[in-house]
Amino acid sequence: MSNRSKPDFYTQKAKKEGYMARSVYKLEEIQNKTKLIKPGDTVLDIGASPGSWTQYCLKLIKGKGCVVGADLKPLGNFKAKGTLHFIQGDVFSGEVRGSLSQWGPFDVIVSDAAPSTTGNRLIDTRRSYNLIEQILDFALEWLKPGGNFTVKVFQGGDETEIFDRMRGEFSQVKKLKPKAVRKESFEYYLIGLGRLQQDREQNP
Ligand SMILES: C[S@@+](CC[C@H](N)C(=O)[O-])C[C@H]1O[C@@H](n2cnc3c(N)ncnc32)[C@H](O)[C@@H]1O
Repeated sequence: MSNRSKPDFYTQKAKKEGYMARSVYKLEEIQNKTKLIKPGDTVLDIGASPGSWTQYCLKLIKGKGCVVGADLKPLGNFKAKGTLHFIQGDVFSGEVRGSLSQWGPFDVIVSDAAPSTTGNRLIDTRRSYNLIEQILDFALEWLKPGGNFTVKVFQGGDETEIFDRMRGEFSQVKKLKPKAVRKESFEYYLIGLGRLQQDREQNP
């Protein structure tokens, strides 16, 4: 049984360091291991609320480039240095995708988005798969050649299809379960490094 009422190590660390959520340490580990984000990048954060990944991305871009966030819910209240744009809405909607594309193409797209859970693993993984597919479709359209991508997936769904699809689209694809993922959680992250250039002449 989990005990989420007791703040764990990462929750306390996030509070101390001024981050909106403990999830920041998942992205920090991904960044330390893969160098996903560079100073000056244009980064899109899908499923950004309450905002810890957005805060960390702003820190990594070092006052150049920009961070664009999107979520069904608003961002929490934090002070941010650097350029931040935020769109509140559903990434399934054409309107939100259209609005996001005004800041694209992106150097990096990160997504920690998760649908609301029912507790039924089958339903939850199916909902998550649909969401990840939407996010990957958008990323493949809006990442610059050479761009990087990470997305949260749930073990036990159809995530191997996502992995296989990503392998054809990036120079390298990795799987990572950061230490900050709670023990009882079946989430992990897929990471695509180096978006491959598409041969546009194939589709005249
Ligand atoms: C785990 S939280 C993200 C936490 C965030 N990375 C942070 O560090 O603060 C997952 C988010 O995904 C968002 N989300 C789920 N489905 C979405 C959708 N269809 N469109 C936009 N956001 C969505 C939820 O509203 C939720 O805020």
